[in-house]
Amino acid sequence: MKGTRVEINLEALSYNYKQMRQLIPSEVKIAAVVKANAYGHDLFEVSKTFELLGVDYIGVANIGEAVSLRIAGIRVPILVMGKTFEEDYDLAVKYEITLTVFDLDDVRKLNLNASFDEKVTKVHLKFDTGFNRLGYKSADQLIEDLEEIESYEFIEVEGLFTHLALKDVDSDDSQFDQFNALLAKIREKGITIPIKHICDSIGTIAYPNRLYDMVRLGAVLYGYCSRKTPFDLMPVMRFKTNVAQVKTILPGEGVSYDYTFVADKVTKVATLPVGYADGVPRNLSGVGHVVIAGNKAPIIGLICMDQMMVDVSDLDEVAVGDEVILFDDQSPTLTELAKLSKTNRNELLSRIAIRVPRVILNGDEKPRVIRYLDRLSKTVEASK
Ligand SMILES: Cc1ncc(COP(=O)(O)O)c(C=O)c1O
Repeated sequence: MKGTRVEINLEALSYNYKQMRQLIPSEVKIAAVVKANAYGHDLFEVSKTFELLGVDYIGVANIGEAVSLRIAGIRVPILVMGKTFEEDYDLAVKYEITLTVFDLDDVRKLNLNASFDEKVTKVHLKFDTGFNRLGYKSADQLIEDLEEIESYEFIEVEGLFTHLALKDVDSDDSQFDQFNALLAKIREKGITIPIKHICDSIGTIAYPNRLYDMVRLGAVLYGYCSRKTPFDLMPVMRFKTNVAQVKTILPGEGVSYDYTFVADKVTKVATLPVGYADGVPRNLSGVGHVVIAGNKAPIIGLICMDQMMVDVSDLDEVAVGDEVILFDDQSPTLTELAKLSKTNRNELLSRIAIRVPRVILNGDEKPRVIRYLDRLSKTVEASK
């Protein structure tokens, strides 16, 4: 296939999952986090792969992601880790989606909604131990609400969780301590919550003895972790394009908007059909490089919305159609790009645009190409 695309290697995804599954005690469940289109890797392909591998839970950010997985046929329990607003409670009930809650009023309304269908809906209570994002700030309030929720006919409190800020060991310890203190109080009340969970990828690697009943893994399954893992991770995504045009410019000629690059010698320039709207961070302009036939080609001039230019003067032969690596597991790596563009890897992965086709590779299987825009146009067509 020619043109801008990402390749998704499902074998690498399975490998990372299986390695983590071996590392984590068998009684600890794994929630695979697939929010933001599975960190850009394709929500459905990734979730299906995890489902076939026997994952215990799937974690998403919002109800829309959860519902689309159910409609696509995913049967594994799904936890919405973010806020779900009242207007979507009927969807949660209908599609049997577990919600994160941290407000009694919300749970009351959810119970009412669930009662219409006479279907018990599962919730995980979120406790804020210091991240200061979502969750009960007060342990006493949480317990008071929990005692009331326990009496609700159509709500099952299946889980309780918090999220680590991962600033340093001391701050993590303080978060674990607060969580443990809350658990002790809940036990004193005689209440049992089956799935208690704290750790994400880094937490799981850093604190292997504090995994509770479940871990929530995202980055590590896609092949990345900022802590040393006991096995080598396999990056799942490769970002590629092909040369659109090759031209030679003379000393004094500028490239792209504002001429931030001006040639000081005769320069061979390759234009690539990919830009910041596809997910190449604009602040790689003038600092990053791509790889063509094993050779580095520096990015020159400002990266445009849909195109960018690279200096291929050092390459003997470059032709229209040649394959270009924007990132893969060799060079440049996603880690290098994240550093150069002053962001993290998750941001780069999750911002690969929907106009970029996903090429699904799975061992000997024939590659499959997912084009979201085709799906969108079919939906529009069907709604006419
Ligand atoms: C609540 C929660 N748990 C788990 C994760 C997974 O994190 P990671 O990708 O670092 O494993 C996320 C992702 O940001 C999250 O928001």
